[in-house]
Amino acid sequence: MKFRKRIIAGNWKMNKTVSEATELAVAIRQELAETSDVDVVLCPPFTALAAVAESLEGSTISFGAQNMHWEASGAYTGEISPVMLRGLYCHYVILGHSERRTYFGETDEIVNRKAQAALASTLRPIVCVGETLEERESGKHIEIVAKQVHGSLAGIAEADLKNTVLAYEPVWAIGTGLTASPEQAQEMHACIRKELAVLCSQDAADSVRIQYGGSMKPSNAAELLAQPDIDGGLIGGASLEARSFVELVKIAKERN
Ligand code: 13P
Repeated sequence: MKFRKRIIAGNWKMNKTVSEATELAVAIRQELAETSDVDVVLCPPFTALAAVAESLEGSTISFGAQNMHWEASGAYTGEISPVMLRGLYCHYVILGHSERRTYFGETDEIVNRKAQAALASTLRPIVCVGETLEERESGKHIEIVAKQVHGSLAGIAEADLKNTVLAYEPVWAIGTGLTASPEQAQEMHACIRKELAVLCSQDAADSVRIQYGGSMKPSNAAELLAQPDIDGGLIGGASLEARSFVELVKIAKERN
């Protein structure tokens, strides 16, 4: 089996002022500054990116944005471009989070445009997919997520796909305290990897890291990360406190 370095990313969503974000980044850095066997990524809101970047300077911890526009510049009031993110030395950008899809009308086509634009700016996209509870109960969850994978990643070249991270986030598990069981998550991760092989190549599919997201916390992470196709976590609530986030990274390290 191909080695895939684990990746734990904190999606802080619309939380943390600049000073709170700095405090959290500094606290995480104190514990994880030299972590090299797990990729650690902090995704604060746009307003705190520069401050977090400064707090992380000289450490191995990366940072990323939670969204972006696909154009480099122009009349798009309120939007942020990939070029601007690169200007802050951002490494990653979360795209197509279910909250963006649900509240801001993002479609697979929009996510695809954004993913292409991110890669063209050498940003690594973390592309989110996942089904709602209704979709799972209808038994069509595998089909729905497969469609999201194909739609969001259409036309991406093999080398670029290898720089892309996927995040499987069942919508019903986000912020609810409900977690997919390790078996449910593994089943979907394996299907996503299979679709990546269809979309691109087996080699790319074996290289891409697929994170699980949805109420992941220190008490359930070890079991999830023990699954062969779960390569990390995209963490919401448990990333807002240094202690739980650091603990998650340590658990991922043990599972390497
Ligand atoms: P929670 O960890 O709060 O469920 O959020 C998951 C998520 O949406 C990460 O992007």
